[in-house]
Amino acid sequence: MQTIRETRQLPAALIALRAGGKSLALVPTMGALHAGHMALVEEARRRADRVAATIFVNPLQFGANEDLERYPRQEEKDAQMLAAAGCDLLWIPDAEDIYPPGFATTVSVKGLSDRWEGEVRPGHFDGVATVVAKLLCAIRPDIALFGEKDFQQLAVIRRMTQDLQIGVEILGVPTVGDTDGLALSSRNAYLSADERRRAVELPRALNEAAERILTGTPVAEALELGKDRLKAAGFSRIDYFALVNAMTLEPLERPVGPMRLIAAAVIGTTRLIDNIPVGL
Ligand code: PAJ
Repeated sequence: MQTIRETRQLPAALIALRAGGKSLALVPTMGALHAGHMALVEEARRRADRVAATIFVNPLQFGANEDLERYPRQEEKDAQMLAAAGCDLLWIPDAEDIYPPGFATTVSVKGLSDRWEGEVRPGHFDGVATVVAKLLCAIRPDIALFGEKDFQQLAVIRRMTQDLQIGVEILGVPTVGDTDGLALSSRNAYLSADERRRAVELPRALNEAAERILTGTPVAEALELGKDRLKAAGFSRIDYFALVNAMTLEPLERPVGPMRLIAAAVIGTTRLIDNIPVGL
């Protein structure tokens, strides 16, 4: 695996990687890699001849009071994991490379970005859409892979690449959970042992709510019971716990069409998100 920090080395590396007409998949990350990220790399290997990954803790998608400074960083270990998984190219750009002095463009996906994560984290999806657009333009992959763990992010990125006609296929990969079912996340590293034990109530509450909705409990009641379960487990704030249309992310009062249960809640000082499909 070739690791590049100097962005000016990227074009030549991409030409070499593509030699003979090879197809290329991209897996963008912020590092602190775990088995969820590696599932994206494995799927990328199945889908394309060559795999590129990026590690960039994107300042533009963090709010002023968020965890940019303390976000876990472990580049050497990440590089080893990617190489072992068969990644061909790793690009670790500097913030100055991505946002040089005078940088003035924002990619903003209206509608899909407004609710849920967007409401609690204003500007977050503008930061995501802008950096992903830049990474796609720099690498020009045939396909780019993103986790369903960040379901709204996936929807925003699909819309953005369609709207801008970037000419890349966006593939969503199912969430990888820990042995107890908690979705793997770089931010799980912030949890104390006690918080980690209680955090598993998030996927449990989602699964229980899905079961209730599918067996006829009114949606509003199933959602309230889910929130109660999180409060009982010691979550101090529930940003949302909602049934939404899986395409538009608009809230649903009755079970209809392709559905997703989505949730975000705080335990201790850590904000966790998760979501599951709800199939009739
Ligand atoms: P990051 O949180 O590092 O996640 C990188 C990719 O891994 C995202 O597509 C995310 O959805 C996926 N992922 C994270 N946890 C997962 C899990 N448990 N199972 C499956 N996939 C998982 O998401 C970002 O970075 C950034 O917003 C980024 C897209 C890189 C733009 O900066």
